[in-house]
Amino acid sequence: MSGPSGLVVGASSGIGLGLVQAWLDAGWRVIATVRDDRGEATLKALPRADRLTIERCDVAVQADIAALAARIEGPLDGVILNAGIIGPPDINAVSLDEAEHVHRVNALGPAKLAFALIDKVRDQTGVVAFTSSGMGSISETSAPGYEVYRASKAAQNMFARALWVGQGRARGITVLSIDPGWVQTAMGGPGATIDVATSASGIVQQIADQARSGQNRFISWRGAARDW
Ligand SMILES: NC(=O)c1ccc[n+]([C@@H]2O[C@H](COP(=O)([O-])OP(=O)(O)OC[C@H]3O[C@@H](n4cnc5c(N)ncnc54)[C@H](OP(=O)(O)O)[C@@H]3O)[C@@H](O)[C@H]2O)c1
Repeated sequence: MSGPSGLVVGASSGIGLGLVQAWLDAGWRVIATVRDDRGEATLKALPRADRLTIERCDVAVQADIAALAARIEGPLDGVILNAGIIGPPDINAVSLDEAEHVHRVNALGPAKLAFALIDKVRDQTGVVAFTSSGMGSISETSAPGYEVYRASKAAQNMFARALWVGQGRARGITVLSIDPGWVQTAMGGPGATIDVATSASGIVQQIADQARSGQNRFISWRGAARDW
């Protein structure tokens, strides 16, 4: 099958599902990960699912990360680490184990996977993108709350930079941390300002626009620079 090849990790719902649809619509072959039968059924119902390969991966599980990285053949033109959870809003109400789980899902797991997969990303034109958040910006944070989530996304941003410095830069691979906006999903809620299709199409457009730049940037779904 022709066309670029992309991987979306955390694709059962919300922005991840929208990213899969956006890449399929653009003629990409897509590998998408879910954690259960419900997620798999959702993906199989998408238009153009004949260009889709579904894999299982819980990013909080080391064995899943290793198995997925081993199964992917590459070369991949794009990888999007999208899995994420918001976690409790108050650090005083969260145990260390709960807090660690948020960091595992949002930062450590996606980073381990990205480092394990970077050899399979195409030289010069490949892009690794993390679904980051404006809440991960240290310099833009002025309101209290969601400390654990904020810190996990700031850590994710650092892993993205480290991936680029350590592996991506020398091979011309672009590494992006993309703030998807405030999106109407289970996480964002119905009062969010944009819908999934708007965010997802913006993100895939940024990936297309930034490919070949060979840079590491923190940007919004519309391409505006975010402050670290
Ligand atoms: N919505 C917003 O306004 C907003 C704003 C800024 C950033 N974000 C970020 O955007 C990303 C997507 O969020 P969303 O709004 O689309 O939320 P969502 O609808 O709740 O989707 C979250 C996705 O992550 C997956 N996931 C959760 N835990 C996982 C794990 N341990 N391993 C693998 N996959 C896992 C979920 O799969 P399951 O169905 O298996 O749970 C689901 O596919 C997240 O990284 C989030 O932090 C969202």
